[in-house]
Amino acid sequence: MIGVFDSGFGGLTIHRALIDALPEQDFVYLGDNKNAPYGTRPPIEVLTLTCAGLEALFAQGATLVIVACNTASVVALRWIQQQWLPVRMKQDGIKRNAIGIVVPTIEAATGVSWHDAAKEEGGGTIAVFATARTVDTGNYPFEIRKRRPDIRVVQQACPELAGAIEAGAPRETLRAMVQKFVKELEDRELGGHAPSSVILGCTHYPLVADLFAEQLPPDVPIIHQPEATAAALKGYLQKHPEYNVTSGGKRVFLSTGYSAEALPLIEKFWGGKLEFQTI
Ligand code: DGL
Repeated sequence: MIGVFDSGFGGLTIHRALIDALPEQDFVYLGDNKNAPYGTRPPIEVLTLTCAGLEALFAQGATLVIVACNTASVVALRWIQQQWLPVRMKQDGIKRNAIGIVVPTIEAATGVSWHDAAKEEGGGTIAVFATARTVDTGNYPFEIRKRRPDIRVVQQACPELAGAIEAGAPRETLRAMVQKFVKELEDRELGGHAPSSVILGCTHYPLVADLFAEQLPPDVPIIHQPEATAAALKGYLQKHPEYNVTSGGKRVFLSTGYSAEALPLIEKFWGGKLEFQTI
């Protein structure tokens, strides 16, 4: 069983792609909607909530968890992998792992995977839109520059956007927010011009990807984080068959408590009804 964790509904954008790529796999999804948004919380709270979320998924039988939340990935994942999981394994002897979504996204955006040498290919500007916490860590610019020093990376924090999506804000409100954030970035960093490509570095933002596309010239690619993560998970399971154990496509959806107002947008994206158990 594979766990998928997000601060709320945003991780469903990743989850959809994972199910489409691996339909036979068993998945359990947990959205910590009650504590969302994570993006404005202090790092220690993000770390504590992420560990609690992983524990809840382990209790459901997940041994591999996709941390489908950029904020949790950049703040907590390294510590979880290097410090917490090895100690956690000593408690019950079960091998578990957690993998994130930032590295697959950056590999897709740069065309350079972690084991390849850095390359330079004519530059350009990548604009990263993310939560305030993700932007603060500087993780995206750092990881991109390691692979592609020729690329300029500019970032825009979109502090209220994930929270507004979670709360089911009207589309016009979301459109005005996206318009403001894109303009702010272009005016501050790019002399009013558009970037050469865009990363939506928050799992909630694919739910409003069309609103970002409206604000950008049609030839500016938006890097698709769900597909990049699905390809990475497929590759990971080939290399680690111990996590590739399935009973044929079980689906469980858990939430710590959500706003029903947001469901229409999420179910439209998902393409069907979603039944959540509250834990
Ligand atoms: N969806 C999460 C992310 O990818 C965080 C949104 C939030 O809870 O602030 O960063």
